[in-house]
Amino acid sequence: MIFQQLFEPLSNSYTYLFGCEETGKAVLVDPVVPTLERDLEAISKLGMKLVSTLETHIHADHITAALALREAVNCKIGFPAIDNLPCADIHIKDEEPLRFGSIAINPIFTPGHTDDHFSFLVNDKLLSGDSLLIDGCGRTDFQNGDAAILYRSITEKLFRLPDETLVYPGHDYNARWVSSIAQEKARNSRIAIGTSEAQFVKTMAELKLPHPNFIDYAVPGNLLCGQCPSDLPENMEKYCQQMTESPQG
Ligand SMILES: [Fe+2]
Repeated sequence: MIFQQLFEPLSNSYTYLFGCEETGKAVLVDPVVPTLERDLEAISKLGMKLVSTLETHIHADHITAALALREAVNCKIGFPAIDNLPCADIHIKDEEPLRFGSIAINPIFTPGHTDDHFSFLVNDKLLSGDSLLIDGCGRTDFQNGDAAILYRSITEKLFRLPDETLVYPGHDYNARWVSSIAQEKARNSRIAIGTSEAQFVKTMAELKLPHPNFIDYAVPGNLLCGQCPSDLPENMEKYCQQMTESPQG
């Protein structure tokens, strides 16, 4: 199995690429509009074909590239079933594995950051989306977020995975790429083992984070599987533009 972790710097998002070497099928988890061409290039360099995109949840900080990728290469679009999106081809359900060649992606319903959130377990790799982050977790103050529910998703589902499971988050704002269940259980400053639900709920309530500036455009756009809004203010156009420079020049 091919596995690549790809970074989108505008929203500090990670996109994950899985590829089946036997069938040439590739899947992208949480692709983002500005890095669409980069991701397609990564797949074509592998001699593979993108067959599906999968979303962990409806994002508030970027527009998914799902729709544009389907228009480009006719792949399928996967969204949580609970969202019931008419534009989606695959409706992701709890513990119903998705198979792409030899790759089995196991969805684990982990609400709390949003009410539709899934994590994906692929062998020893957990794509935790915006539920469990490295030394943190997703915020719970919009999109029907609920700190008590997130606490249960993390402690009763994710922290019960084997300690050696690698944790690949949906975001990191400090250039960290991967953690493990053991490390997060021991060191996560919000929810390490020993933190009570009440303490966690209090911590989340006291964060007082600013309202994200792109949410009012991102959420409606993502409910359409990644439609860039036509009324996007000029200072936000970058969220819907392709990146023109790559680090390699
Ligand atoms: Fe999110």
